[in-house]
Amino acid sequence: MKHFISLKDLSKKEILTLISESCAIKKNPLKFKNKLKGKYVGLLFEKPSLRTKTAFYIGSLQLGASPVYYSHHEIKLEKRETISDVSRTLSNFLDGIVSRTFSHNTILELAKFSSIPVINGLSDFLHPSQVLADLITIYELKGDIKKLKVAYIGDGNNVCHSLIQAFSILGGNLCVATPKEYSPSRNIVMEAKNHCSKSGAKINLMTSIQEAAMDADVLYTDAWVSMGREKERQGRKKAFKEFQINDKILKLAKKGAIVMHCLPAHRGEEITDSVIESKNSVVFAQAQNRLYSAKAILLYCLGQN
Ligand code: CP
Ligand code: NVA
Repeated sequence: MKHFISLKDLSKKEILTLISESCAIKKNPLKFKNKLKGKYVGLLFEKPSLRTKTAFYIGSLQLGASPVYYSHHEIKLEKRETISDVSRTLSNFLDGIVSRTFSHNTILELAKFSSIPVINGLSDFLHPSQVLADLITIYELKGDIKKLKVAYIGDGNNVCHSLIQAFSILGGNLCVATPKEYSPSRNIVMEAKNHCSKSGAKINLMTSIQEAAMDADVLYTDAWVSMGREKERQGRKKAFKEFQINDKILKLAKKGAIVMHCLPAHRGEEITDSVIESKNSVVFAQAQNRLYSAKAILLYCLGQN
């Protein structure tokens, strides 16, 4: 059984296959239309979602499967019922679960007790399905990541962690600029360093957004305040004040650099309106790629059984 919880569980070959499979699905969706016929996919979301929910919901339907959506209010993991009871119950009804959770441990616990594949639709620690779509977007618009400088500017959060994992496995030059106290997890960085020696990747952590943005092919940012961190808003707004992709920062990047954001965006915080609306911004192409990566992940996890 294959879960999709963390990119570090996948080999370089598996990630590259998921990317090429996503591109094949994008090119010829009809070829895949009945691949999951008769399967049921549960979408168990503790937090709001526009892109991830839509990508996995529509993606399931386009592959011939039937999605079943559960909101936080219906399930109330650990309040109405334990995670292990939910997981074992759903295993008897469904063929796969896509879950968005506050705590990463919840996803791990769901997977531990599940006899069907569990797909991570975002936790507080990782956002691997997002990063798969990001990789497709970069490959499509800029080519091989090994030849690029990609700058992530902002919070060392779930998206940042999955980017670090992906780059360290695939090889590539990723500069991560965060305020010191919001740098990515030490474990993620240590594991990535181990991969880097094999893949030739360069993961550079820094606090200067100018240094990160200088001559970059790709600028990437995400919310200063992720879901579940709302109580930290005041402190974060202060700490991240300078960590904004604006016209000045965009000018430091290479001519024709692309600007990425997983969305939802907070204009005037991590990105300015003028940058997100500029010709460099590829945020909607990036969001669209969520559909193809979601379908490739569904096929990877549910396609064999
Ligand atoms: N990028 C992303 O995961 O968007 P949603 O939170 O809307 O799913
Ligand atoms: N880091 C953000 C990503 C949203 C898709 C969050 O966790 O809220």
